[in-house]
Amino acid sequence: MSSWSRQRHQSPGFFDPHLSRMLFLLLLSVASGQGVTQNPKDCLVFQSERGSSISCHSPAELPSYLPADTVHLVVEFFNLTQLPANLLQGASKLQELHLSSNRLESLSAEFLLPVPLLRVLDLTRNALTRLPPGLFQASAALDTLVLKENQLEDIEASWLHGLKTLGHLDLSGNRLRKLPAGLLANFTLLHTLDLGDNQLEILQPDLLRGPLRLERLHLEGNRLKVLGKELLEPQPDLRYLFLNNNKLAKVEAGTFQGLRQLDMLDLSNNSLASVPKGLWAPLAQPGRDMQDGFDISNNPWICDQNLNDLYCWLKAKKDKMFSQNDTRCAGPKDMKGQTLLAVAESQ
Ligand SMILES: *[C@@H]1O[C@H](CO)[C@@H](O)[C@H](O)[C@H]1NC(C)=O
Ligand SMILES: *[C@@H]1O[C@H](CO)[C@@H](O)[C@H](O)[C@H]1NC(C)=O
Ligand SMILES: *[C@@H]1O[C@H](CO)[C@@H](O)[C@H](O)[C@H]1NC(C)=O
Ligand SMILES: *[C@@H]1O[C@H](CO)[C@@H](O)[C@H](O)[C@H]1NC(C)=O
Repeated sequence: MSSWSRQRHQSPGFFDPHLSRMLFLLLLSVASGQGVTQNPKDCLVFQSERGSSISCHSPAELPSYLPADTVHLVVEFFNLTQLPANLLQGASKLQELHLSSNRLESLSAEFLLPVPLLRVLDLTRNALTRLPPGLFQASAALDTLVLKENQLEDIEASWLHGLKTLGHLDLSGNRLRKLPAGLLANFTLLHTLDLGDNQLEILQPDLLRGPLRLERLHLEGNRLKVLGKELLEPQPDLRYLFLNNNKLAKVEAGTFQGLRQLDMLDLSNNSLASVPKGLWAPLAQPGRDMQDGFDISNNPWICDQNLNDLYCWLKAKKDKMFSQNDTRCAGPKDMKGQTLLAVAESQ
């Protein structure tokens, strides 16, 4: 299991707001030479050809206005319940805004109007229960929206209206129970969708109609019981699929049929006893090597002839199999406790 979380955090190109902040601070301290010696009430300012980058951490005082060339603003760990009105006024070149680890409960619909070039908005670890419809009316350039670890129980498609180039949407660590039909219908460029660690029980079969080139889908840590055949159909480019820590007892026949590029699959810690015939076939064609591995451990597998397909697949791909020692038969009685791989190899 740990190897999966490592992957999750280290995969190249995967946006990690904290890593991004660390790099940014590192850059700042390198830029200022002998370490940062400054008045703790000041925000750090770094100027480059691109424009000013400003980083404020408690106990600094928030600036009452931002330089007009500000491209990058960090206001984190203040426990702010509200942002100063007009914080972004005059910062029309802003491209990245990091507001994680405050206690924001709401945002005003006009908040982002002054910053139409914004590409990254990170609201990780706040207390948002909703977003105002219209928040993104001027945010056509926004590529990355991170709402991780807030308190969203619901989400409405109208909250996201205005986003035209969204590539990365992170809604993980909220309390979402369901998602509305058509939520992603307009996000053809979405490549990373993180819905992990919510309370989702079912997914609309057409949830992923809209995105045309999803590469990374996180659904781990929900309450999914069934993986329906249609969900993944429109996603030939999907490379990383995380379904671990759900309650999956059924993966429908043909579910993986449309996948052409899968490099990683995590189905560990579910309630799978068997899988339909042919499920793995699309993942086992020549030239497809599942290069980053797969995990089907900690499921109550019933090791009878219904798993014959799976045994063949395991034999062919065992060097890509994680947690081999935790992938064991729960039945029938005479097989209980054997590893699936041992059973596969004895066939
Ligand atoms: C924010 O709240 C946390 C938890 O209550 C506390 O540990 C931290 O010191 C607070 N930070 C500020 C800047 O007030
Ligand atoms: C998609 O975009 C169109 C045009 O902006 C809008 O009318 C429609 O409501 C959007 N659909 C969803 C589900 O957001
Ligand atoms: C398995 O998944 C459940 C949620 O279904 C979670 O509570 C538990 O911590 C997970 N176990 C492991 C070892 O990850
Ligand atoms: C495999 O698992 C068994 C019991 O689950 C444990 O006793 C054993 O040490 C494990 N072996 C390895 C190599 O991890």
